[in-house]
Amino acid sequence: MAVDSTRQLKQDHVTVRRIRDIAQKCSDKLYAGQDIPLEDIKIVAVVMEEFIDAFHHGKEEKAYFPETADKDEYFSEEIRKFLIEHEFGRRVANMMKRNLLEWQTGIDAREPVARFLKTYAIFITDHTDKEDKFFDMLEEMKSLTAEEDRELLRHFETCGKDIGGSARIEELLRLIEYLEERNWMR
Ligand SMILES: [Fe+2]
Ligand SMILES: [Fe+2]
Repeated sequence: MAVDSTRQLKQDHVTVRRIRDIAQKCSDKLYAGQDIPLEDIKIVAVVMEEFIDAFHHGKEEKAYFPETADKDEYFSEEIRKFLIEHEFGRRVANMMKRNLLEWQTGIDAREPVARFLKTYAIFITDHTDKEDKFFDMLEEMKSLTAEEDRELLRHFETCGKDIGGSARIEELLRLIEYLEERNWMR
């Protein structure tokens, strides 16, 4: 059976949590004084920015949430909170990146980079748990019609194209695997 839009977002969360685990481990090792190639941390920033923020949050913000918000007042309240959390995550990711760039110019930014990575990991755990509960509820209530669901899947495709299409998404998945294989991840 084809994957519906709600299930697709839940499946994205599995990948999003893999990025969370990488960010957490990276933070732990930095705090422990271990050296991690700054190039690797730059890749962490890339997958955070492209997979989580542009691609996954893009699908939620541009397609799924607008479609489901007006179905129920409780839904729209939840969605309003999710959007605020996306904004928070975006700010944390930007702060991490800004400090990483400073570090690359020779200023020691180990502490702030470690701190923002840790904050980001906590944000992902909290945010995806809440959204999963929300998605479960929508599934249980059968809130989306088959036609709305097809429409959402089409819209998701456009979101994928916006970030460079399936080739870029596959590339991002390869980058996540690459990071998981690095020595400092062990
Ligand atoms: Fe979200
Ligand atoms: Fe999400």
